[in-house]
Amino acid sequence: MIDNYIYDKKAELIIDGKTYTLPIVEGKEGEKAIDIRKLRSQTGYITIDSGFMNTGSCVSSITFLDGEKSILNYRGYAIEDLANNCSFVEVAYLLVHGSLPTQEQLSEFSQLLGGFALIHEDMIHFFDHFPPYAPPMSILSSMVNSLCNFYPEMSDNPGENIDMMAARLISKIRTIAAFSYKKSMGQPLVYPRHDYSYCANFLNMMFDSPVKPYVVNDAVVAALNKLLILHADHEQNCSTSTVRLVGSAKVNLYASISAGISALWGPLHGGANQAVIEMLEEIYENGGNYMKYIERAKNSKDPFRLVGFGHRVYKSHDPRSRIIKNACEQVLASMGFYSDPLLDIAREIEEVVLRDDYFVSRNLYPNVDFYSGIIYRAIGIPSNMFTVMFALGRLPGWIAHWKEMWDDPNWRIGRPRQIYIGPKRRPFVPVAERKAYPAQ
Ligand code: SDX
Repeated sequence: MIDNYIYDKKAELIIDGKTYTLPIVEGKEGEKAIDIRKLRSQTGYITIDSGFMNTGSCVSSITFLDGEKSILNYRGYAIEDLANNCSFVEVAYLLVHGSLPTQEQLSEFSQLLGGFALIHEDMIHFFDHFPPYAPPMSILSSMVNSLCNFYPEMSDNPGENIDMMAARLISKIRTIAAFSYKKSMGQPLVYPRHDYSYCANFLNMMFDSPVKPYVVNDAVVAALNKLLILHADHEQNCSTSTVRLVGSAKVNLYASISAGISALWGPLHGGANQAVIEMLEEIYENGGNYMKYIERAKNSKDPFRLVGFGHRVYKSHDPRSRIIKNACEQVLASMGFYSDPLLDIAREIEEVVLRDDYFVSRNLYPNVDFYSGIIYRAIGIPSNMFTVMFALGRLPGWIAHWKEMWDDPNWRIGRPRQIYIGPKRRPFVPVAERKAYPAQ
């Protein structure tokens, strides 16, 4: 696929007085890359780029984002249009299949998801053997990986029926997440219903109980659809790159997704939404003095970072953060909250930070995680499940990338190189003759 985007423009590299010509790859939105696939065979050199800040791993037709212009498109559609006009199931179909579904396709896909909503009764016993304090992301990653045991055909031929595997996982991950919450609360499980939409079903499985029936609030369902859409994909972020790397060894979809869930768990990545709400709650409980946290974040000697701010790619506003911030008020009002002290603190922090040279000079803006927890908290989702919510949203994106890689005839196993800086070759010393050496 890369070869389809190589045109006449070339790059020249001069090493040890010799000039090498390297092809230039140009994408549909004008992004350019130097094609170094033959660099080592031509020059003996590799490149090095810790954190892959300047390195592209693939060409992809799924998501485009422009960090300078605050643009985010899924399959060419603006995130604002999708978030304001679609359901999450519609966007999941778009990401996995490449086009927005017709009404008939959407109905079929919804029915397919509905039919897959249950998990095998044997899997339910797995929950009995996690300790009560088990982190929800650990449970989610374990259960998703275990799911492939119930479909042995997946290991034999992982690419056999990707669309069916995708629909099955998009549906079941929601049930697994809700069941893990009910188990953590010691409450009876609430099974999915055939007459509820994707998000309404999730909320009902989370909050319905024999003694207090859950009343589905349309505004909350709409907000959850919007949140999941906003998290659905984000090109080659850490967890998506993990799914691709694990999948590149021809690992089945569910095991690859399980690895992506583990990557998303990190506080620098998807775990930030939980850290944000914990920071806001701490600030609120300590009298609202957020300036202390802002000053700590600016102190290079203090490892504390203002979670919810900054982004590897967005050097301007994260468009998702703006949409979520605006949705906060609607959701809170629809639930009868006409003010939220944490939202007030969050807004004040954003206002101060966007005027502070430390943050402005480093292009640090609120990212997708800064406001999302305000809504999850208002819905009643516990903060230790916020990253699980991120995973539910990101799943269609992960699947789309795994499928894109799987369908690429030129795809190879991912195996980066390195520059070695350890000891040079040295003679072996039998254990009887070894002395304790200072660490190399
Ligand atoms: C997500 O990649 C994606 O697309 C991710 C994501 C997705 O949808 O998949 O968008 C989801 O992960 C959002 C990010 C959530 N993480 C956080 O909110 C954690 C706080 N943010 C940071 O740790 C940081 O901004 C990262 C991890 C998000 C980005 O790190 P980078 O790109 O490696 O940037 P950096 O660490 O090199 O920072 C550049 C400078 C440094 O200062 P100097 O060394 O130049 O003096 O900015 C500073 C950093 O110290 N900095 C911060 C800061 N983030 C960066 N200083 C204070 N507070 C922060 N939050």
